[in-house]
Amino acid sequence: MKRLALAIVMLGITPAAISALEPGGGPQRYRWNLPKGFPVPTVPVDNPMSVARAELGRYLFYDNRISGNGKQACASCHQQKYAFADNRALSTGSTGEPGVRKSMSLVNIAYAPALTWSNPSVGTLEDQALVPMFGKHPLELGLNTDNRFLALLKADSTYQRLFKSAFPSDIKPFRLENVTRALACFERTIISARSPYDKYHYQHDSNAISELAKRGEELFFSWQYNCFHCHGGFNFADSEDAARGKRRWLQYSNTGLYNVAGPISYPATNAGIYEFTKKAQDVGKFKAPSLRNVELHPPYMHDGSIATLEGVIEHYAAAGRKITEGPNKGDGSLNPNKDPRIVGFPLTPRDKKALVAFLCSLTDRSVINDPRFSDPWKPRATSVPGAGAGH
Ligand code: HEC
Ligand code: HEC
Repeated sequence: MKRLALAIVMLGITPAAISALEPGGGPQRYRWNLPKGFPVPTVPVDNPMSVARAELGRYLFYDNRISGNGKQACASCHQQKYAFADNRALSTGSTGEPGVRKSMSLVNIAYAPALTWSNPSVGTLEDQALVPMFGKHPLELGLNTDNRFLALLKADSTYQRLFKSAFPSDIKPFRLENVTRALACFERTIISARSPYDKYHYQHDSNAISELAKRGEELFFSWQYNCFHCHGGFNFADSEDAARGKRRWLQYSNTGLYNVAGPISYPATNAGIYEFTKKAQDVGKFKAPSLRNVELHPPYMHDGSIATLEGVIEHYAAAGRKITEGPNKGDGSLNPNKDPRIVGFPLTPRDKKALVAFLCSLTDRSVINDPRFSDPWKPRATSVPGAGAGH
C-alpha cells in the first residue's frame, strides 16, 4: 500500500484517478475509452465509475418518479436531442413554476470543476443533483424530504436489480446518497468527442470541415476575437478539471449582456456570482460554457436571451449588447464589470458565417443518437433488418 501511495505521488496521479480505473473489477469494470486529446476525468474517491452504476443513473435520469408530482425527470430539461440542454430560454419546473435560467448542456460535464452558470460552491455532480431534486427557488423536481420516492424505487423490480448490482456491498442500497452517486456516474459517461472538428484537429483529416469553418477557427483563436481565452482547452470551456494534468481555474466573466440602471447592473434575478460573493465587481459574471454542440441548443446565454449563434457573435462584435427599451434598457458595452477582453471587432458577413461554421463543426451527432445515453424506459426500436422480429 505504501508503495502504491508513493507511486501515486511520483506519477502525480490523484487517488480519484486510480479509483476511476479499478471499480468493482470483473464485468463491472468501467472503461473510459477516451478519444485522443481527452484526459481521464476526476472522479470522487467514494463514487468510482462502474457500468452498473452508470446504468442505474440512466434509469433515474429518465424516471419521472424523481419529481414530487411525477411529471418531470432530469431528462425533461436536459434532453438528449438538445445535447442534454433544452430549447427553452428559461426552464419550467414540475409544478409549472418558471425558472430564471436556461438549462445547460451536460455533455462532457465530467470535466467541469464547478457547476451551473454562476454558483461557485457547487463542485461535484453528486451534490449538484440535490439542487433540482429538492430546491425550492426555483422549484424544479419538487421532491419532498420524506423520501417517499425512495420507497417507490424500492418497490420496483427493475430498481431492485439495478441498485443491487450498482452497490453490491451495500446492505441498504436504497439511499439518497446512492441515487445521487448513480446520477453523477451516468452524467460522467456522457462524453462527446466525435465532431467533425475533432476529426480535423485530432485525426488530421483535412476534409472533415469546410474551408469556411477553417477560416472561422482562425478567427476564434485570434487575439482580435479572443474567443479562445474564455472558451478554451479541448472542451472549449471556461476551465476543465481532469485527474491528471494542469487544471485551468474557473474565472467567470461579464460579457456586457446588460447594463441596467441602479446599483446592480444586471437584472436582479440573474446577477451572476455576485449572488454568492456579494462583491460589486462580481455582478454579471457567469461561467463560460463549453461550446461543443452549441449549435444544438439555442437560445443562448444564462437567460436564453439571444436567439441565434449569429446574434451571439454580433453581441461580441459590438463589445456588448445595447437594449433600447423596457426594464433592461442600457448599453451593455459600458457595463463597469465587463471583461477587458471583450473589446469588439469589425465583422464582415463572411466572417460571421465563418465563425458560425466553425461553431457548428463542434457538433457531435453521435452523442445525441447514442443509445447508451437514451431513455431506457422506452421500448427499444428493434427493427433491425433481417433480425427476424417474427412477423
Ligand atoms: C426544471 C428543469 C430542470 C430539471 C428538472 C433539472 N435541471 Fe439541471 N439544470 C437546469 C437549469 C436551469 C440549470 C442551470 C442552473 C443554474 O445555473 O442555476 C441546470 C444545470 C444543471 C447542471 C450544471 C451543468 C453545468 O454545465 O454546470 C447539472 C450537472 C444538472 N443541471 C444536472 C441535473 C440533474 C442530474 C437533474 C435531475 C436530478 C436535473 N439537472 C434536473 C434545469 C433543470
Ligand atoms: C471574457 C470571456 C469570454 C470571451 C472573450 C468570449 N466569451 Fe463567449 N461566453 C462567455 C460567458 C461568460 C458566457 C455566458 C454569459 C452569460 O450567459 O451571461 C458566454 C457565452 C457564449 C455563448 C453561448 C453559449 C450557451 O450555451 O448559451 C456562445 C455561443 C459564445 N459565448 C461564443 C463566443 C465566441 C464566438 C466568442 C468570440 C467572438 C466568445 N464567446 C468570446 C465568456 C466569453
